[in-house]
Amino acid sequence: MLVLGIESSCDETAAAIVNEKREILGQSLLSQEEHKVFGGVVPEIAARSHLDHIDEIIEHCVNKAGIKLEDLDAIAASSGPGLIGGVVVGVMAAKALALALNKPFIAVNHLEGHALCARLTEDVTYPYLLLLVSGGHCQILIVKGVGDFERLGTTIDDAAGEAFDKVAKMLNLGYPGGPMIEKMASVGNPDRFPLPRPLQNSGDCNLSFSGLKTAVRKIIESYSPDGKIEHAIMRKRDAADICAAFQTAATDCLTHKLKKAISYFKQNYPEGKDLVVSGGVAANTFLRESLKKLADKHQLQFSAPPIKYCTDNGVMIAWAGLERFQKGLTDTLDFKPRPRWPLDANAPKAAGAGGVKA
Ligand code: KG4
Ligand code: ZN
Repeated sequence: MLVLGIESSCDETAAAIVNEKREILGQSLLSQEEHKVFGGVVPEIAARSHLDHIDEIIEHCVNKAGIKLEDLDAIAASSGPGLIGGVVVGVMAAKALALALNKPFIAVNHLEGHALCARLTEDVTYPYLLLLVSGGHCQILIVKGVGDFERLGTTIDDAAGEAFDKVAKMLNLGYPGGPMIEKMASVGNPDRFPLPRPLQNSGDCNLSFSGLKTAVRKIIESYSPDGKIEHAIMRKRDAADICAAFQTAATDCLTHKLKKAISYFKQNYPEGKDLVVSGGVAANTFLRESLKKLADKHQLQFSAPPIKYCTDNGVMIAWAGLERFQKGLTDTLDFKPRPRWPLDANAPKAAGAGGVKA
């Protein structure tokens, strides 16, 4: 069984082909560089760039896999949530292939791609507890099966990756900010600047990063002669210490709420064995190590996709597509891409039933 997955929901144009033996036969990925000068992704530029490159990305992937298009069994595309211009490009390419090849089209929820990816590379079984941390989302979920999620908590303001990106922007570290913050933090002192841990006592599994970001802003402003952040004069050492303090505080917030989620998970899903982290921020080694310790302490097995599959890629869409296909979950060609598509509204549907209704 061969499934092609296409990803184009943000600033990566990507494709991959996987099979049911969890083999990646071919993959191809282009990270758009055009956005760097703007310090964030510009939707219109992203959509145009996807349009310019999608054909060659798919062709390259198919060639690498050493197969013919006719050998594919199904074509999956990241069909939301995301920047709609880009999503439309990937979905239209997938539908065109599906129509021309007379093969099923599968609309994959981008978040489900992140959520299921660890099952391709690690031995993770349903149900599992998942921390999904990306540039646009931050959720704690129980993954019960394909399209079957229970959401325990979410951010009430910024996503975790968004907070990394905003702090990096304040420090002029470039975009995307996460990898740069991590690099700086590795040589910084996390204890020099005290930072808050928002929502610690809220009694639920929700998260908030906006107060943390404001606290960082105030520290940087204190280094400016006129209080304006853009005039701040800092040594590299100061910036590194801020990055370390921020990374530690953000990780503390996540692990604190996960402890709560773990006790709910253990109580309600005693058969569950795994704690999984996924999404772009899951590439952060400090976070991964902290979660591993947390999982060990609670006798859970910790898993995360390899770092290169944490940020957006075609492999995760191909794999989620394959899991859907195995369950007979395909979509009709009138499926409408969805700029918003909550995971817990992603209920399984019968084969041929058309687009998911939420
Ligand atoms: O999953 P992803 O590629 O795109 C979305 O679906 O949003 O995640 C991108 C996010 C960005 O905010 C980026 O700064 C963050 O993941 N990120 C990291 C690291 N690598 C990427 N955050 C923290 N540490 C990293 N090493
Ligand atoms: Zn993503």
